[in-house]
Amino acid sequence: MEKITITPANRIKDLPPYLFAAIDKMKQEAIRQGRDVINLGIGDPDLPTPKAIIERLQLASADPTNHQYPSYEGLLSFRRAVAKWYQDRFHVILNPEDEVATLIGSKEGIGHTPLAFINPGDVALMTSPGYPVYHAGTLFAGGTSYFAPLLEKNKFLPDLDAIPVEVAKAAKIFFINYPNNPTGAVANARFFESVVEFARTYNILICHDAAYSEIYYDGVRPESFLDVPGAKDVGIEFHSLSKTFNMTGWRIGFAVGNKEAVSALLKVKSNLDSGVFQAVQEAGIAALELPDSVLASIRKIYQERRDLFVAGLNKIGAKIASAEASFYLFIKNPPNITSHALAARLLSEADIVVTPGNGFGEAGEGYIRVALTCSADRLAEAIKRIEKAGIFA
Ligand SMILES: Cc1ncc(COP(=O)(O)O)c(C=O)c1O
Repeated sequence: MEKITITPANRIKDLPPYLFAAIDKMKQEAIRQGRDVINLGIGDPDLPTPKAIIERLQLASADPTNHQYPSYEGLLSFRRAVAKWYQDRFHVILNPEDEVATLIGSKEGIGHTPLAFINPGDVALMTSPGYPVYHAGTLFAGGTSYFAPLLEKNKFLPDLDAIPVEVAKAAKIFFINYPNNPTGAVANARFFESVVEFARTYNILICHDAAYSEIYYDGVRPESFLDVPGAKDVGIEFHSLSKTFNMTGWRIGFAVGNKEAVSALLKVKSNLDSGVFQAVQEAGIAALELPDSVLASIRKIYQERRDLFVAGLNKIGAKIASAEASFYLFIKNPPNITSHALAARLLSEADIVVTPGNGFGEAGEGYIRVALTCSADRLAEAIKRIEKAGIFA
């Protein structure tokens, strides 16, 4: 039989190279050799999903009414629970009927957003470093990405005045993300106000990714973008149950805010997917209704880990660029070593996996990202190993 030539579309070929591939390969090799690898590379909570959520799924999955196609926009009861959670947590009022959409994880909604707003040739603004899905989604929609650098001297907030006027005029959407992956930085209301002003000046839809809003330290709670005046006129916010409730495998999140934007996103989704399994949405309601003490106890664990790791790094001479919220620490490279070489050294000399900052965009060069997704004992062991290898000395 003759074989046909299978040629992927240019949008597949145009995807940026996977910069973590070399480190991944080294990690696999170290594991194969039986070395005791400490993985600080992945943004996936090691803690289990709270019991009440699992129990709700067990009940809901046995109910035959949940076995059929869910509605595209999600169960109204889930969307009501989202609106209540938003009001309690952020004092933001949302109409569950048309200002809330259920997502199959926030990655799905973020990835589909450019399809709803970007025509071929349009510009999407995003940051470097940044979560790679903003750029991939833009590429798939035929748009052009403009990367605003996140610099340490600006507390890892984009300098809106430095975005060229002609780029801003051509832009349709702007992805921002606080608490930020990978820098761990947070944004305050003043910054969000300037973003609303920027959006109004240039007619840009703001897409704020708030996946890490509930992982914060010292009781300093991150704000919602939608809490600043006028934000709902110009933007939507993405949320995820993944990191907040240790539910990365369950695939549930939501988009809230501007109803025209929510409706356009739902139009894309209704043509491509069939919503979230209703039993998972029921479990999501149980998650959103948990008493704050549950989240407080999760935060306590991350706080312990962060304090231990930050103290350890300070002791051995490493410079932490940011560790304000999220479970990531952004650590400055010692002089004269690239992020990739530093990550490779940590793996070969200390059996520790970290993520090179440039994997999230060029402006991430000069830093590595550490995820606090393993136990305090393992983090203490990691510090010992880094000290012994003299990597930051
Ligand atoms: C900044 C950011 N946004 C969104 C997501 C997607 O999370 P999920 O699709 O699990 O909701 C992630 C996951 O790592 C992330 O880091």
